[in-house]
Amino acid sequence: MYLHGTSTINERNHLEIGGCDTVELAAAYGTPLYVMDEALIRQRCSEYMEAFRASGLKFQVAYASKAFCVMAMCRIVEEEGLALDVVSDGELYTALKAGFPAQRIHFHGNNKTPEEIGMALDAGIGCFVVDNAVELHMLNAIAGEKGVRANILLRITPGVEAHTHEYISTGQTDSKFGFDLENGAAFEAVKQAADLPNVELLGVHSHIGSQIFEVDGFRLAVEKVAAFAAHVRDKLSLVFRVINLGGGFGIRYTEGDTPLPVAAYVQAIAEAVKEQFGNLRYPLPEIWTEPGRSIVGDAGTTLYTVGTYKDIPGVRKYVAVDGGMTDNPRPALYDARYEAMLANRGGDPAEEVVSVAGKCCESGDMLIWDVKLPAVRSGDILAVSCTGAYNYAMASNYNRLRRPAVVFVKDGKADVVVKRESYDHLLGNDLIPERMLKVTRPV
Ligand code: LLP
Repeated sequence: MYLHGTSTINERNHLEIGGCDTVELAAAYGTPLYVMDEALIRQRCSEYMEAFRASGLKFQVAYASKAFCVMAMCRIVEEEGLALDVVSDGELYTALKAGFPAQRIHFHGNNKTPEEIGMALDAGIGCFVVDNAVELHMLNAIAGEKGVRANILLRITPGVEAHTHEYISTGQTDSKFGFDLENGAAFEAVKQAADLPNVELLGVHSHIGSQIFEVDGFRLAVEKVAAFAAHVRDKLSLVFRVINLGGGFGIRYTEGDTPLPVAAYVQAIAEAVKEQFGNLRYPLPEIWTEPGRSIVGDAGTTLYTVGTYKDIPGVRKYVAVDGGMTDNPRPALYDARYEAMLANRGGDPAEEVVSVAGKCCESGDMLIWDVKLPAVRSGDILAVSCTGAYNYAMASNYNRLRRPAVVFVKDGKADVVVKRESYDHLLGNDLIPERMLKVTRPV
């Protein structure tokens, strides 16, 4: 596992993050445990803000909260001056309860319910990213009933397929998201939106995929969006004030990954915007982006306790930890690769290649297939890095495992921002119908 952010090996030969000894964290809060390097999260936020400031463009950076949405995270995002993208009533509720300013919230999603739309309008959120025609008319109607006007962007699918895992590409024509650019649906939506009395069309939105390492896809998306904007201007005399280019900037999960620094993505996008819109003599729109993974992904480390292991001679050695696909479904879902180290024996030489198994009752519950570690023993603390995005957010109670706690570490201090679930949490919504309680039990 490569060390980054505030991670170091301390004088006790333990992995330390944010000035906190991770072996002590594991003992104090139990495992599995998500540890988030707060300084690194803040650094990533400011890298985006600084790079956009340097570009001279008007901008908003909206953290895509789907990557990791808890109230403390919303506070950080607020403090760092970013906007926030939510995709459900639950994410919206979390943000509002954390005191996040509604004006800086953008609401996404391909199937917003009338209740969600009503809730967001009542809160006075800054913008809806409208995904389809049904939503467009529903939003217009609900806003009308409430006597308000909703700012909107229309999500378009620009027909750009980013080089990434197919399950997380959303920019291609055959997508459940957005209005298609090529077949005229996007143009038709703009025409309709411009005529609706209770929505204010600010511009369009495009998201081309996730965990993207190259800038070419973004450049192409800018080109397509700019050409579309010019077409709309020429045909409808309508000028977009905002272009949202979505998220998807890649991170370094493993040493072999080669993402660009945040500033390079931003610079490439800014240059493409200036060039493309400039060529079309189009007033430079405000540029919004929605990074999720690249804000929190590499700031997270999950600590596990090693339990059992078994060596199958000539085949492999399985090492089992006290979590798995419940706290990190990404290896099972996307074949995602992670790196790991023994937090309690940080500097020890790696001696054996093992496979890290989770504790769920299915063979697919593997966290890492091959990782080189010192000879692993029961009781070791295994640290898996870069688990900050889409881990806690996608965690489940499969096999009735309790979801782990999340701690933020910074300057030698650890703060629990999500408590570990209790057995009562697990049973909190269970009910036994009265008729089943009437069973007579032998005394
Ligand atoms: N904006 C939109 C419209 C999105 O759909 C997404 C991610 C983002 C922004 C943020 O993308 P990011 O910067 O985090 O790549 N569960 C999958 C990732 C799904 C991403 C869905 N949309 C995973 O674990 O890899």
